[in-house]
Amino acid sequence: MDKIVIEGGHPLHGTIRISGAKNAALPLMAACLLTPEKQILHNVPDLRDTRTILELLGALGVTWQKNGNTLILDSSGIKDVEASYDLVKTMRASILVLGPLLARTGRARVSLPGGCAIGARPIDFHLQGFQKLGVTFTLESGYVDAHVADRLQGNTVCFDIPTVTGTENILMAAVLAEGTTVIKNAAREPEIGNLVDMLTGMGAKIIGRDSDRLVIHGVTALHSAETTIIPDRIETGTYLIAVGAAGGEATLTNCNPAHLPSLLEKLKAAGLTIKEGVDSIYVTRSGPLRNVDVKTMPFPGFATDLQAQIMALMTLTSGLSVINETIFENRFMHVAELRRMGADIRIDGRSAIVKGVGRLSGARVMATDLRASASLVVASLAAEGETHISRVYHLDRGYDDLVGKLKALGAKIRREKE
Ligand code: EPU
Repeated sequence: MDKIVIEGGHPLHGTIRISGAKNAALPLMAACLLTPEKQILHNVPDLRDTRTILELLGALGVTWQKNGNTLILDSSGIKDVEASYDLVKTMRASILVLGPLLARTGRARVSLPGGCAIGARPIDFHLQGFQKLGVTFTLESGYVDAHVADRLQGNTVCFDIPTVTGTENILMAAVLAEGTTVIKNAAREPEIGNLVDMLTGMGAKIIGRDSDRLVIHGVTALHSAETTIIPDRIETGTYLIAVGAAGGEATLTNCNPAHLPSLLEKLKAAGLTIKEGVDSIYVTRSGPLRNVDVKTMPFPGFATDLQAQIMALMTLTSGLSVINETIFENRFMHVAELRRMGADIRIDGRSAIVKGVGRLSGARVMATDLRASASLVVASLAAEGETHISRVYHLDRGYDDLVGKLKALGAKIRREKE
């Protein structure tokens, strides 16, 4: 197993290019199952999770060609409808094949994901939505076995709370259903807009992009399309926060500032200077950091996927900040590790109370999930001395060439065998 070693205390300087969004690439790749015609995807990030979904699609009979960051997917030869436990347990997003498989073949067998490091994360909203569309299930041996008698039937699906992959799954099923489907209280994350654009390009009829009410008029067949994956807003946010922590100045290119409204406001309030371009962001920290409070919310609120990273930044202020996690009940696994680096953080239910300590010190740390690992990278860049971060495979799931990009910004970072 590899680890990352970071010598902190060196300001970051330079320009880096943001990769395509993991959480857009995964549903868009799954959407290739909806039609036997080829799909072309540009700006696909090279991540462990995108390789995992390719492995899953391959097991279902999908073939692909890769040319740099362009992927051509061909699902004309689907031969199986099962997502196995081995793949689902490493990546919950495997559940995204359920909707397209049901729409295309009328059958799917997908392992139940179970709990994960950030909470229980059930899929009950997905299943209730599919039931509304006429799907029947059996739950046996840890698998959901789903069938639809004839064709999926359009209906109204109203989510209790907005669910990102739930909205994507129902959307992908509804585009080939008979009649009209209305998704109420839909999630509005930009990755869903990217999926709507792909499906529309394939011939789907969808009204309400970027709103919490999606209306889908089912069609009988979809066709080939060419779609570009949107920039990764969480990767963008992580590097902005990293510059805040380490100091210096950087320009991030190929990103979309409009996808980070809440984070940019928080970082400005925290004392960073941010200049937004059309598809770039310039960031610098010239003065001291200020404490801000954060509450995670569905888009356009503050993303839960950036909560751990901003918490690392808040340990470096001289004030008190309260970070409230409203999306996942157990997403504070990074706190114990940040404490090992000298942070003063108290957990009270779903809130973390961070008393800024001004400086952190390098330590041996490990993380239990992707964004927790990213927060340790942020903390290490600012800490005095060396930090050794174990279990790099978490970072490999969601950050394309993290070491190369930070090196390009002048960070003292290396990857080593444990
Ligand atoms: N929920 C249910 N039942 C369901 C579905 C969701 O109770 O059937 C709950 C969840 O437990 C959670 C809330 O609803 O409390 C919202 O979860 P959501 O379904 O929106 O999360 P997700 O679709 O499983 C995606 C991202 C996550 C990101 C969340 C929230 C992908 C592949 N994953 O997960 O990304 O944190 O939305 O924005 O899009 C990450 O990239 O590190 C990551 C975890």
